[in-house]
Amino acid sequence: MSLSAVILAAGKGTRMQSSLPKVLHPIAGKAMVRHILDTVAQLEVDNTCVVSGHGAEQLRASLDDAQLTWCHQAQQLGTGHAVQQALPHIQADDTVLILVGDAPLIKAATLQRLLAIKRTADVALLTVHLRDPTGMGRIIRRDDNIVAIVEHKDATPEQRTISEINTGIMAMAGSDLQRWVAQLNNDNAQQEYYLVDVIAMAAAEGKTIKSAHPHSAVEVEGVNDRVQLARLERAYQLEQAQALMLQGATLLDPARVDIRGQVTVGADVTIDVNVILQGNVTLGRNVSIGANCQLIDCCIGDNVIIEPNCIIQGASVAGDCTVGPYARLRPDACLHVGAKVGNFVEIKKATLGKGSKVNHLSYIGDAEIGARVNVGAGTITCNYDGTNKFTTTIGDGAFIGSNSSLVAPVTIGKDATVGAGSTINKAVPDKSLAVARSQQTVNLKWRRGRKKTV
Ligand code: UD1
Ligand code: CA
Repeated sequence: MSLSAVILAAGKGTRMQSSLPKVLHPIAGKAMVRHILDTVAQLEVDNTCVVSGHGAEQLRASLDDAQLTWCHQAQQLGTGHAVQQALPHIQADDTVLILVGDAPLIKAATLQRLLAIKRTADVALLTVHLRDPTGMGRIIRRDDNIVAIVEHKDATPEQRTISEINTGIMAMAGSDLQRWVAQLNNDNAQQEYYLVDVIAMAAAEGKTIKSAHPHSAVEVEGVNDRVQLARLERAYQLEQAQALMLQGATLLDPARVDIRGQVTVGADVTIDVNVILQGNVTLGRNVSIGANCQLIDCCIGDNVIIEPNCIIQGASVAGDCTVGPYARLRPDACLHVGAKVGNFVEIKKATLGKGSKVNHLSYIGDAEIGARVNVGAGTITCNYDGTNKFTTTIGDGAFIGSNSSLVAPVTIGKDATVGAGSTINKAVPDKSLAVARSQQTVNLKWRRGRKKTV
């Protein structure tokens, strides 16, 4: 017996007013349907079918997942018709878990509970009580037993007072699903083949139908328009912010930190407002991140201070470093212990050795900088000749005077000194002084011109 998941994602999502298929709209930078697939992947599902229709090609291309079974629903004739498209991929003895593609925050633990209920019943339904159930399918019970689901548009005024609704998520045996779906008709207010009609069929056969419930209604909340999308984004962000706080991070305002990926934090991390953490971000113990920073796929060591307004992407920063304010660390920037990168400094594909400093207004690209190096304000590694990139190598203990241009490929020796304003394009030996700038001239007789009088 295996577990199959069917994700319904063929609908157009008209109210999104978008050329992007609804289920590809992101929550925390990740497509809604990808959230669901990642959650389903935690359940040891043997076969995951995605029913696509509107924007099917775009959906397949952007998910690009060889593990998925794609089913095409050419015309959207209803949720029951959508499930029918997946039936050729379902075995009679499978347990089938059906999910909707536009409710992205469902949790694996909730689905586990639903599947546990399925093991004690013929059909397991995920239901929830809503203060405003308008538009949703209502759960009809008789003596506590579920006997049917009635869609809002087909419901009597009395049925509309029922607050328990169908989330669209359910589980049943493949053989039952096959038999029931074959009997669906579209004799209803929307002239659609409703999946929910299988519940009345199950009840008529005397099958047991039991319900499970999510911890929070937000888990099953669907997205139909961008207002709902934004609401779920906020709910998801708040949940992630809370998880970070429980791991030992202080967030000065949990509503003003956005996490779009996986973040690991050590104890006593402090994050100021308007910080975006994206991709895989690891923050060591006692890291402080100032306001308005964006950190993407990077690893930050213990006791690092990141001052406000920094952008750090694909970089690694070892312990005790200070970065910013207004610094940009680009891919393969690697700061060793205790390095300092100050304001308006850009570092790309470069190593800054232990305790070295680039404190002001510099561009360091394609460089190997040793330990205890001081790179003066305005220093530029001229790494590009218009065709190729070249490396600048600076030995331990070197001092680079302000406003120097280091024309790569070039090597500055250990403990060497470069005079301010130099353009260096030849190797500088260890411990030597290199000055490469025009001589200053002084003209004692010169006088400034006088303003013309008319
Ligand atoms: C459905 C349920 C309703 C439940 C609600 C929860 C039915 C008949 N109704 O209603 O009881 O309260 O979800 O959100 O099942 N889809 C297809 N093909 C189709 C139609 C829909 O793939 O032909 C997909 C949609 O892309 C969507 C999901 O099925 O992901 C739900 O469809 P939607 O039209 O939103 O159903 P509701 O009317 O909201
Ligand atoms: Ca819906």
